[in-house]
Amino acid sequence: MRHFTCVQDIGDLKEAVNEALDIKKDRFRFTALGKNKTLLMVFFNSSLRTRLSTQKAAMNLGMNTIVLDVNQGAWKLETERGVVMDGDKSEHLLEAIPVMGCYCDMIGVRSFARFESKEEDYGEQILEQFIRYSGRPVFSMEAATRHPLQSFADLITIEEYKRTACPKVVMTWAPHPKALPQAVPNSFAEWINAAGYELVITHPEGYELDPVFVGHARVDYDQKRAFEGADFVYAKNWAAYADPHYGQVLNKDRNWTVDAGKMALTNEARFMHCLPVRRNMIVTDDVIESPQSIVIPEAANREIAAQTVLKRLLTPE
Ligand code: CP
Repeated sequence: MRHFTCVQDIGDLKEAVNEALDIKKDRFRFTALGKNKTLLMVFFNSSLRTRLSTQKAAMNLGMNTIVLDVNQGAWKLETERGVVMDGDKSEHLLEAIPVMGCYCDMIGVRSFARFESKEEDYGEQILEQFIRYSGRPVFSMEAATRHPLQSFADLITIEEYKRTACPKVVMTWAPHPKALPQAVPNSFAEWINAAGYELVITHPEGYELDPVFVGHARVDYDQKRAFEGADFVYAKNWAAYADPHYGQVLNKDRNWTVDAGKMALTNEARFMHCLPVRRNMIVTDDVIESPQSIVIPEAANREIAAQTVLKRLLTPE
């Protein structure tokens, strides 16, 4: 594997999940693989889980890690080619990226959608420039349109907790005060579709995701109907995708909050969320604290997902 940005990059999903579960049994088995190798993690946006889990995964493999928070201590970076740099940005990404490549063997990048231009966001301008100009294997730590390390961890978690071979997975939109990118729901849909599970996506009208990611999932605007018989409920907020409202918050209706009454409609579904989560906006306290909630093991699997990806990137093809 040369780069990791989407589900296609990981190849056969069953093999990948089995490899991850094998790593989980003994995560220190491959410490020689990363000896004298350096991982650079570049964050254009904040993180708790991705930062810690990826760093831990690299350490499990014997790697050294360097973390760069672009907005704290580094020169402000220009990302557009052709601009006259007479403003507050001191360095262009086109020099910064190859320079970063000089100091490491592999680069992880977090770069969210900015909601300034759908074309720029969905063109993955920043991630693609790292792939093109760094000369190093690059993996996404959440880009504008996808969060594959999260989705891989989600899939591992579903494999661990599922009670039937083909569970019903419901991804539900839930309210949030701010405009959030579509990366997590896009990616989750992409991975669950690829896994071949039944996927139902429920959201208010106006929150339709890019059909490329929805794939063969069923979309239901009736959240309660969607929850019926669910084995997993995956809650997430996202901003509108469709024009002319791209990146906007259209709805903060707390009738969409996941609560115990709705969970009672499911097949004793497990509750999942990528975290961080806004309690009593996305999900009520009692649901996230209930035995049905698996948000902590889900977050723990971020380390295993990251280690599987890093191991593959370290392994010569
Ligand atoms: N789920 C997730 O990516 O968390 P962080 O934003 O804290 O990394």
